Amino acid sequence: MIDTRTPIPSQVLGVDLGDRSYDIVIGPGLLRNLNQQLEGLSPTARIAVITDETVHTLHGATLEAALSERQTHMIIRPAGEAQKSLANLEEILNNLFNAGLNRSDLVVAFGGGVIGDLAGFAASIYKRGMPFVQVPTTLLSQVDSSVGGKTAINNRFGKNLIGAFYQPQKVVTDTELLRTLPVRELKAGYAEVLKYGLLGDSRFFNQLESGLGQRILDLDEVSLTEAIHVSCATKAKIVAQDEREGGVRALLNLGHTFGHALELQAGYDGDLLHGEAVSVGMEMAFRFAVEQGLCDATDADRLTAHLAATQMPRISDMAHLLHDPAALLIHMGQDKKNDNGHLTLILPRRIGETFIEKRADRESVLRFLTQLRDEA
Ligand SMILES: NC(=O)c1ccc[n+]([C@@H]2O[C@H](COP(=O)([O-])OP(=O)(O)OC[C@H]3O[C@@H](n4cnc5c(N)ncnc54)[C@H](O)[C@@H]3O)[C@@H](O)[C@H]2O)c1
Repeated sequence: MIDTRTPIPSQVLGVDLGDRSYDIVIGPGLLRNLNQQLEGLSPTARIAVITDETVHTLHGATLEAALSERQTHMIIRPAGEAQKSLANLEEILNNLFNAGLNRSDLVVAFGGGVIGDLAGFAASIYKRGMPFVQVPTTLLSQVDSSVGGKTAINNRFGKNLIGAFYQPQKVVTDTELLRTLPVRELKAGYAEVLKYGLLGDSRFFNQLESGLGQRILDLDEVSLTEAIHVSCATKAKIVAQDEREGGVRALLNLGHTFGHALELQAGYDGDLLHGEAVSVGMEMAFRFAVEQGLCDATDADRLTAHLAATQMPRISDMAHLLHDPAALLIHMGQDKKNDNGHLTLILPRRIGETFIEKRADRESVLRFLTQLRDEA
């Protein structure tokens, strides 16, 4: 049967970082044209694709068919956060050496944020740096981790503590890949989409609220392409102002300090995904700002109503993690953004406007967390 649907055109967004500028190409079906997308990025035909077992099982054949004209070396690692380790990094570097790659070859990071962070960091240090391209496969990585050049692994002292700022040559975002993503992972990514509406673009939040959000969760391709474009444009604009997080880039952490405390409390074993923690963390940031008289309650209510309408994780789902307010406060104090023992929070003035509070009052935060526990 002939497919009479109008093909959805891909969108191109430039990230403006001087000589480290690059394009993000977004649209359905781009993986099938990956060879074309990579044209001109590497003087040689050799490519190392770093991926995880799940993504390889689901989409590896499409990628390998697309790159059949290239000399492609596949590096397939187990899936999961635990892979962001020094041991796994060394394994990947050994694979690159065994394949005899050099600095004119290309690394392709094909997976979610874990693969993007790991492959990007490997590319940044292999022979002092080789070019890499991100092909993100989760919604979270398509709107967040593939853009902005942060790469990292974890160690026993914490998450993302060993890493580099290293920009990709290009980001190729195929929205069709999201069709195989588990709903929980999709929603975790949607929290980050929502974040862009809350931190800087109230019109985008209005659109999400009046149907766009649900269409994204229903995987409507036009809506996905549009929302990923808006999200990446917002992130790119902030990164262009502050590539190495000395100032405004911290705004991207809306909901992350509260969320980080919940993640630590849950114990990083899959009980609470990062994006789920961000969803609840953003609601907490709005509620806290209302308590402090910084934000109108109607804005916090709108956020809570949207989270409920889209069945996103909320404070009311977190009773099991809120029982120890003092422990949560300590976890919040361990966040990388904190300076000299002061608590840094990203707080809203209204939907679409946030600011960096560098000296949040610990007592007020503790009172707020205690109140949440008592209401839970
Ligand atoms: N560098 C940054 O700026 C930045 C920003 C945010 C998050 N991160 C990092 O990103 C990581 C989280 O990323 P994530 O949420 O993408 O997690 P992930 O990479 O672990 O992917 C989640 C799960 O989905 C699977 N998966 C990936 N694509 C799939 C697909 N198309 N279909 C079915 N399953 C698929 C993966 O195998 C994995 O099991 C964390 O390590 C976090 O620290 C980095």
